[in-house]
Amino acid sequence: MRRAFGCSLAALLGTTALPALAADVASPDGRTVVTLDVDGDGVPFYRVTRDGEALIAESDLGFIFTDAEPMRRNFQVETETRASHDDTWEQPWGERRFVRDHHNELAITFREARETSKRALTVRMRVFDDGIGFRYEFPESTEMPVARIAEELTEFAIAPEAAEGGKAWWIPGGDFNRYEYLYNETPITGVSTAHTPMTVRLQDGTHLAFHEAALVDYSGMWLRRMEGSRFRASLAPSSRGAKVVREGAFTTPWRTIRISDGPAGLVESDIDLNLNEPNKLGDVSWVEPGKYIGIWWGMISNKWTWASGDRHGATTERAKQYIDFAAEHGFRGVLVEGWNIGWDGNWFGNGRDYSFTQAYPDFDLKEVTDYARKKGVRLIGHHETGGNIKVYEEQLADAMKLYGELGVDWVKTGYVADAGGVISCNADIADPCEDDTEIFEWHDGQRQVQHHLRVVEEAAKNHVAVNPHEPVKDTGLRRTYPNWVAREGARGQEYNAWGAFSNGPDHEPTLVYTRLLSGPMDYTPGVLGLVGDQNYPIASTLAKQLGLYLAIYSPIQMAADFVESLAAHPKELEFIKAVPADWSESHLIDGAVGDYAIFARKDRNSQDWYVGGVNDATERTLELDFDFLEEGQAYTAKVWKDGPEATYLTEKRHDIAYDTVTVRKGDSYTVRLAPGGGLAIQLQPN
Ligand code: NOJ
Ligand code: CA
Repeated sequence: MRRAFGCSLAALLGTTALPALAADVASPDGRTVVTLDVDGDGVPFYRVTRDGEALIAESDLGFIFTDAEPMRRNFQVETETRASHDDTWEQPWGERRFVRDHHNELAITFREARETSKRALTVRMRVFDDGIGFRYEFPESTEMPVARIAEELTEFAIAPEAAEGGKAWWIPGGDFNRYEYLYNETPITGVSTAHTPMTVRLQDGTHLAFHEAALVDYSGMWLRRMEGSRFRASLAPSSRGAKVVREGAFTTPWRTIRISDGPAGLVESDIDLNLNEPNKLGDVSWVEPGKYIGIWWGMISNKWTWASGDRHGATTERAKQYIDFAAEHGFRGVLVEGWNIGWDGNWFGNGRDYSFTQAYPDFDLKEVTDYARKKGVRLIGHHETGGNIKVYEEQLADAMKLYGELGVDWVKTGYVADAGGVISCNADIADPCEDDTEIFEWHDGQRQVQHHLRVVEEAAKNHVAVNPHEPVKDTGLRRTYPNWVAREGARGQEYNAWGAFSNGPDHEPTLVYTRLLSGPMDYTPGVLGLVGDQNYPIASTLAKQLGLYLAIYSPIQMAADFVESLAAHPKELEFIKAVPADWSESHLIDGAVGDYAIFARKDRNSQDWYVGGVNDATERTLELDFDFLEEGQAYTAKVWKDGPEATYLTEKRHDIAYDTVTVRKGDSYTVRLAPGGGLAIQLQPN
């Protein structure tokens, strides 16, 4: 019984039961069918079947408000419109050049049938072969000119018969460390409140991922398990009580469920991108993918400091040394953190002292950018805010202008603060700051969602691309704003500097099927020394550091280690120099959620293919098929693989082996992945 009442509320209230007009919409291949309707109480709901079997059981749709009656029951179906769509669009950069958007759409407008209230709510449902997406559309309304949303009531009820024996991979939503957690692997009934994407594998092998697309001017959605396998949206809070405040007509983000027979379909699905608006920035040829090094691992592993003093990392001299290395080895950029004033106080979580335009005395920004330009290298800017968006927004226009003028065309931003610790002065970006009052917001609340877009738009004006750390989750907005190139938004490599085996061996093969579904991640691979602070060992073989470039996609890929350590590994550096950060095709050719992931990706600018990926703690032997290669063409395959004794558990993590073979389409290659191991192969046409 889905409802608390044993009979319809309409009947209890003595009103006439509302008509139920079921409307179905199927995916282009006919396998997934969604029903949108109202139940006997006039509660709007959807349900999903796959191959005729229940997949998502009747799941409620609706809202509660802080100052208006809930939109929950007493709705009738007013109108119904249908559409079909099939086109292919081109990405300026990405995992693949062309993306097909093929779906059927059903939009139903529900209207309240109450004496006191006649508000309308449209639900637009799009059904693809690889999943579904739906959003709410609020029309302009005299009854409720401003929607103050206390909570969204959207449910995701995995059908109990389908959920039985299923597993979920998830991190907590709303906990203090945002989304920088190791993933839990539990029965579906073991989930509490999950950040999204949340990935589920059903016993029959069906893979699902729950997420959202086009998160604009709204709060991020977590998933709260209500009971059994039934989840409900839980929006990130706001300082103003209502979690979302919107005036006039507006649409919510899309709620998405990827649906696939196996892991490859999940990973290769583009439904979240397809549900975003096309590029709004016009010519974005100035957004160039590439690779970078940085004055970074030294601070992360506590050898240097961001703050001024004897161990200050960002000196003019060191920046030039890194620029020289970048120029010699073809890296596009050099990230320099701690160049600007403000790190000497309590930068962690208050950010009140930052200047985004003034450098420390031992760092000459102009001299360094001039030097970089001469060498054909870009300085990569850094704006750590400590979560203080009040201070940052005050300086934003000047800060971006400065970078634009100096040719600093990528900026890494940062919002280091505990969840709920983002400092603002106004609950809405449109409200001016009136005094020095500080209010506190969430990293994924509506105010911060607004903030990120403001930064991205300001950056775009100056032809700067943005890579936020401690960001809001990715919801595919890179399609609309292609200068939003990457972000962190998960537990990155940095944690490996802070404890032995801090990111366990299964972390990256889990990220591939969870966090990475949402979009590019600045994971910062390439710590070839395999140690962090205090020589903490990393749960990775040397080959796995290379495999990360194929497993974890980003158009900006770091080689995160000290330059001395990169130079000490010339053969591995050769791979890092060669591997592209922009692809025309990407396929998961082997893998299982949380266990391992091997990709084949084709360079966007040549006929070269790259194959590789990452393994968890279980040693395994794979037979890789090269079916993706061009018929009749021979390729030279250069292989970087785990050595015979390699294991992440001992010093043998450095054991790497090399191989060169000739392969053709139809050939296969047998390779052992060590515990905590990985693989990288470059295939070039002969
Ligand atoms: C945390 C980021 O993830 C890291 O990359 C950065 O170096 C520090 N914050 C300082 O901004
Ligand atoms: Ca971080």
